[in-house]
Amino acid sequence: MPYRPANGSCQRLSRMVGAFAFGRCGWPGGALRVQSLPSRMSTSSPRKLIIAIDGPAGAGKSTIASHLARRLGYVNLESGAMYRALALKAIEWDISFDDETALVRLAHNSRIQIEPCLGGNRVLLDGRDVSQRVREADVTEAASRVSVHPNVRAWMVARQQEMGANGGVVMEGRDIGTKVFPAADIKVFLDADPVVREQRRMKQQQIKPGVAAEALAAELRERDRRDRTRATSPLVPASDALVLDSTELSEDEVLNRVEELVLRKLNHPSQVLE
Ligand code: DC
Repeated sequence: MPYRPANGSCQRLSRMVGAFAFGRCGWPGGALRVQSLPSRMSTSSPRKLIIAIDGPAGAGKSTIASHLARRLGYVNLESGAMYRALALKAIEWDISFDDETALVRLAHNSRIQIEPCLGGNRVLLDGRDVSQRVREADVTEAASRVSVHPNVRAWMVARQQEMGANGGVVMEGRDIGTKVFPAADIKVFLDADPVVREQRRMKQQQIKPGVAAEALAAELRERDRRDRTRATSPLVPASDALVLDSTELSEDEVLNRVEELVLRKLNHPSQVLE
């Protein structure tokens, strides 16, 4: 997966909580192509929103979240990176993905940090830069497996709540609008046809049709199934989320829709958005 390496312009997240981290830059196309709203999306607004972006892999969450965060001067927190970092540590320590107690203990004994950079975020595990490693297939699969455990999730959710508590965040994941910030100012659930999501991932990872592409598609489908059917906090839209199907939408179109919502919220804070 084309996780762009940190570019040397990282700034420490000022409200980094004890242990954490997130982030990913980029998306298949790379360049930011947003034309609308630059001046109206004023970052001088006194109100710092909590924006939740949920959805399955390949729906475009990361791109939208990082563009939006940059536009608003907010921090983009990628909650999946926390699960990935823990999964990596479980691999390295040879801890079973089914051993909930051991995984929670491992979490307590880990330092996971996120450093937002101009071009994305760096993920540090116990001080080591694992930004690239956590995107590899074995960690991706393991992250989905460790995330099924209620006590692992409770630990993650508590950390994520601490990180976003002051607002000014665009947090992306699977349960941000339902569990982490059920009272988020804005909730978006971004979905897309599975075949389109697979194609986007292949483009992103520069995989040509063939065996590797089929393996990636199978992995994505299995991860989807696990994320959507787990007993605790399955991937579902919050009842008050804007559900956007990006199958037929360009990045700009999705971003414009979300930006419209943000503007309405900034201009009319008490209005219930639909
Ligand atoms: O967003 P991602 O692909 O980096 O997430 C990796 C895995 O982590 C995903 O398969 C499920 C889990 N996850 C989760 O359960 N809840 C979140 N809020 C974020 C990720």
